[in-house]
Amino acid sequence: MSALLAVRGLTRRFGGIAAVDGVDLDLAPGIITALVGPNGAGKTTLFNLITGHLAPDAGHVTLSGQAIGRRAPHTIARLGIARSFQDLRLFTRMSVADNVLTATEPASWFWQPGGKAARQARAAEALAATGLSPLAQADAADLAYAERKFLSLARILATGARIWLLDEPASGLDPASRARFSALLRDAASQGVTICLIEHNLDIVIELADRIVFLDQGRKLAEGDPETILADPHLAAIYFGEPA
Ligand SMILES: Nc1ncnc2c1ncn2[C@@H]1O[C@H](COP(=O)(O)OP(=O)(O)OP(=O)(O)O)[C@@H](O)[C@H]1O
Ligand SMILES: [Mg+2]
Repeated sequence: MSALLAVRGLTRRFGGIAAVDGVDLDLAPGIITALVGPNGAGKTTLFNLITGHLAPDAGHVTLSGQAIGRRAPHTIARLGIARSFQDLRLFTRMSVADNVLTATEPASWFWQPGGKAARQARAAEALAATGLSPLAQADAADLAYAERKFLSLARILATGARIWLLDEPASGLDPASRARFSALLRDAASQGVTICLIEHNLDIVIELADRIVFLDQGRKLAEGDPETILADPHLAAIYFGEPA
């Protein structure tokens, strides 16, 4: 596996807690990696370190072999690393269409081709792909829960980014929405998008992930194919909070 994004020894402490503790992670094109672990394992913090929302105490991140550490989030986004947030962070007073269009601002994505018409076409495509076209003029605030999750994904699709970091993108989706969501991610991966998602629902992980990276208390405890990792009784005990 040839990594597009490589994380080495990434570490971040908050007071006495090592939220992320010497983590290595390799993400490759076309591969869906699930970041799994109990609450507080450091999954979101790891994303924050990669995307420049937090500075590491140690370690580094490379993109195509080039170090990308200690840059502002918008600079890292411009390199083609898009992310979604656990709390979605949509523009609730904007229309669905404008939420997607703002994700294609040339100021945020200088490497994207084309002018305004191309941006609008890409936004329209993202709305169609996520099933949101009929709701394009609705206020984001008026969307149902699953529709908000898809809007968050549409914003990422519209950027054209080649690396997607998704923080619990499928949590709380009904089975039909989940199937649609999985198909979208599979489709993106088959086109070479590099995907890492944080996911608590192990059914989704089994359905979607090519590999699992298991975190606990900031450390990477295991990585491998989903069947092997999820069959490990020691990891299951940690995940479900039972004594090993
Ligand atoms: N800004 C912060 N200040 C202080 N402590 C923090 C901060 N962000 C995270 N932490 C702590 O770091 C640890 C890892 O948190 P993180 O949010 O990364 O976990 P997580 O794996 O995403 O959990 P969850 O599954 O609940 O979302 C936790 O102990 C958390 O309380
Ligand atoms: Mg989290």
